[in-house]
Amino acid sequence: MKAYLTLNYQKHKNSKHMSHKIQTLSGYIHEYQKSVLQPEEFWGRVAESFHWKKPWSKVLKWDFDGPDVNWFVDGKMNITENILDRHLFIMGDRPAIIWEPNEPGDEVVTLTYRELYHQVCQFANALKAQGVQKGDRVIIYMPMVPEAAVAMLACARIGAVHSVVFAGFSSTAVADRINDCEAKMVLTSDGNYRGAKSIGVKSVVDEALEKSTSVEKVIVFKRTGTEVTMKEGRDIWWDDAIKGQPLDCPAEEMDAEDMLFILYTSGSTGKPKGVVHTCGGYMVYTYYSFVNVFQYNVGDVYWCTADVGWITGHSYIVYGPLLAGATTLMFEGVPTYPHVGRFWEVIDKHKVNQFYTAPTAIRALQAYGLEPLEPYKMDTLKVIGSVGEPINEEAWHWYHDHVGKGNCPLVDTWWQTETGGIMIAPIAGVTPNKPAHASLPLPGVQPIIVDTEGKELHGNNVEGNLCIKFPWPGMIRTTYGDHDRCKQTYFSTYKGLYFTGDGAKRDHDGYLRILGRVDDVINVSGHRMGTAEVENAINEHPKVIESAVVGYPHDVKGQGIYAYVICDMEGRSEESLKNEIRETVSKIIGPIAKPDKVQIVPGLPKTRSGKIMRRILRKVASGEADQLGDTSTLLNPEVVEAIVKGASK
Ligand code: WT7
Repeated sequence: MKAYLTLNYQKHKNSKHMSHKIQTLSGYIHEYQKSVLQPEEFWGRVAESFHWKKPWSKVLKWDFDGPDVNWFVDGKMNITENILDRHLFIMGDRPAIIWEPNEPGDEVVTLTYRELYHQVCQFANALKAQGVQKGDRVIIYMPMVPEAAVAMLACARIGAVHSVVFAGFSSTAVADRINDCEAKMVLTSDGNYRGAKSIGVKSVVDEALEKSTSVEKVIVFKRTGTEVTMKEGRDIWWDDAIKGQPLDCPAEEMDAEDMLFILYTSGSTGKPKGVVHTCGGYMVYTYYSFVNVFQYNVGDVYWCTADVGWITGHSYIVYGPLLAGATTLMFEGVPTYPHVGRFWEVIDKHKVNQFYTAPTAIRALQAYGLEPLEPYKMDTLKVIGSVGEPINEEAWHWYHDHVGKGNCPLVDTWWQTETGGIMIAPIAGVTPNKPAHASLPLPGVQPIIVDTEGKELHGNNVEGNLCIKFPWPGMIRTTYGDHDRCKQTYFSTYKGLYFTGDGAKRDHDGYLRILGRVDDVINVSGHRMGTAEVENAINEHPKVIESAVVGYPHDVKGQGIYAYVICDMEGRSEESLKNEIRETVSKIIGPIAKPDKVQIVPGLPKTRSGKIMRRILRKVASGEADQLGDTSTLLNPEVVEAIVKGASK
């Protein structure tokens, strides 16, 4: 480990100066201290580099009990002016988005900042012509095509609130989200290419719209040429919608605290919640974290492999990079199509300088050995990054040694949908790397570790629950339509603190290591699944009486989903029931939520007050049935033996 605690990365040393960019370790320490001692001055200075239509009267007004957090109070702006108009003059001809299609032989699309400006403005005008107004909610259910980014920015241009739904979610999940935010419009595509498959997308929307009433119009982007039904008066093709629309569109004046977007995410209780981010703070935070963590230099090509349906895609494919005037690569396909060297091929093809992916992808590709990497040089890489779940040491080393060739800093970035941007991460080439450690907080971020009573654990070598004690500009403001839920979920466990739901350790060097969720959330391939949400879906199967879902260690996915189910078995084979249960979940939530293992059980271990003892179920699922501890206080200790006996391997 010692070897990594040195600064042996030379590639950055000649980087050109960019304002707000930390260059040295002492610079980091200095900026960090400033951000804690004088947070308003610190963030005010970062925000000054943007174009504001009207300056703020106060940088920060906050109260975590409300919670009521306001950044850049009274400030007026539009995030797209800072992405588009501001960059036209000197960067107009630079590539903003490079799009690599699913098929390696198909044409690459490059949009310069000027072209992106015109496309966004034109589509913004189309949205207005179809009746969208400031404050209206628009669902975006689209594949990874540049038009998805255009759609997001067009909403922002006119002050409509976008809510992107990952195109792998089921029609029920789409309907739930439409209904929760009472969306007026859906933007979608006919179909979606993913590897060797072509998936219907519009048909999913059609099904969802049978269960909702608020949507007036659907705009359909043609991607696959799949046949779709277009409902008269409701559905319109993208190309028809933009026809004749002007290429300029005034940017709506937004208050810094007006809603920019809603993004649904799973929690420990039943239904997903709409995390709300606002315009000003999110803009300042995604820009600042992007340029610092990745040490982006003008002219670099940056690639984040996430989907725009997740927060990573919002903050680090679209908003952060584009605010910085960066060239951001968007990839439509999957890492294993048409071959398992696709990522490495794309890195060489587009001369990628910063590469940001998930541990689950690394582990999946690691399993194919080194041969798939051999044809590629990957010598343009300067920084590699990881996000979404803890990266285990083995995957860390493989990524560092074979993808980064031992000379690229690896930034293990910890953050959440709710935090809006990266919170704890090394600054590439500045913070000495330590495998599997998210390391140190970014300036402006004040993480603390608390014990179960909420007492702060000071000093090094401590472990507990991770909280943040001071606001940062990119943080969640509310959960859409239910402010109390936001308060209960994040600000009530420990008074005066934002609770992350993660456990963390501060080691003997003062470095932070994230230990994973301490609540009933499972992290499957970097995607959050609430156990209650999966249980609700399982319980929809008519033969299911009760179920309990837990996570267990999975070699590639990080965590897998293990479901214990009590069923009415009459006349049914166990195998067919298990498959039906898996399909039910896939249909209600989406394939990503499908349980990896289903075990039919005669009962669930319960306490005398009737609560399911998940601790026991987790142990059995993890293959640690020999460490169950005392089970005699259970209401039904006899079921434990049956569960252990029948455990799925
Ligand atoms: C949860 C948030 C943030 C974008 C992707 C996921 C886990 C995220 C790391 C990391 C350890 C991580 C946490 C967190 N997580 N990044 N670098 N190391 N754990 O966003 O769906 O909101 O999930 O992902 O458990 O709470 P999300």
